[in-house]
Amino acid sequence: MKVPNHVAIIMDGNGRWAKERGMVRSEGHLEGSKTLEKLAIHAMDMGVKVLSVYAFSTDNFKRDKQEVDYLMNLIVKYFNTKFEKINKRGIKVVISGRKENLRRDVIEAINNIQEKTKDNKEGILNICFNYGGQEEIVDAAIKLATDIKEGLNVTNFKREDFYKYLYHDLPPIDLLIRTGGELRVSNFMLYQLSYSEFYFTNTYFPDFGKSEFNKALFMYENRDRRFGGINDKESK
Ligand code: IPE
Ligand code: IPE
Ligand code: MG
Repeated sequence: MKVPNHVAIIMDGNGRWAKERGMVRSEGHLEGSKTLEKLAIHAMDMGVKVLSVYAFSTDNFKRDKQEVDYLMNLIVKYFNTKFEKINKRGIKVVISGRKENLRRDVIEAINNIQEKTKDNKEGILNICFNYGGQEEIVDAAIKLATDIKEGLNVTNFKREDFYKYLYHDLPPIDLLIRTGGELRVSNFMLYQLSYSEFYFTNTYFPDFGKSEFNKALFMYENRDRRFGGINDKESK
């Protein structure tokens, strides 16, 4: 089986999942967080090395304070207590995003989980929190500009060299999954998505379990990735 090295998921549809069940939006987020814990371990079991997930965008601050507070509390609770299984499985957790605008307890929880799992070698779970793809590129460009000012020679600087200026030096994304039915990237990992295969599903994230994930892997296996070249020998 041809397994994608780096899978990214836009975990969308928690609110609609809850609404359809007559529940409040926060119950959808809680259910989604349970799905994530299971999926992270499953993805590694399937041979994926890096899983990036979109948990909270810089633009999600536009939502009601009540919902934002719920999501902040959920992340603190999860990082401080519920990530034991992920740690035991040998998964290193990294967080991508801006720390400005985050509460002190959220920053502490982020630092704790990164510190606790930093030596894990079985795979990487990259949680994008207070994250924006354009923001990541802008922040990287500022770091690069600083290095140039300090004397870095960029004569032979290549697109691959830019990765180390991003929040974490992760490989390009092979497969992007978006749950919840929308057909857009909503400012997610724009630099790393350049040659990704896209998989969109109407399934809301809380319902996106192992068998749904496997469907995406199966689809990926049958995609012909060309990276601008030509694979089919007969057409030469
Ligand atoms: C995704 O679910 C989770 C976050 C953005 C935090 P939504 O909350 O966007 O759910 P819908 O799209 O409103 O159903
Ligand atoms: C993208 O979902 C952000 C996350 C999944 C965290 P949104 O629900 O915020 O995206 P839009 O508003 O539909 O584009
Ligand atoms: Mg949404």
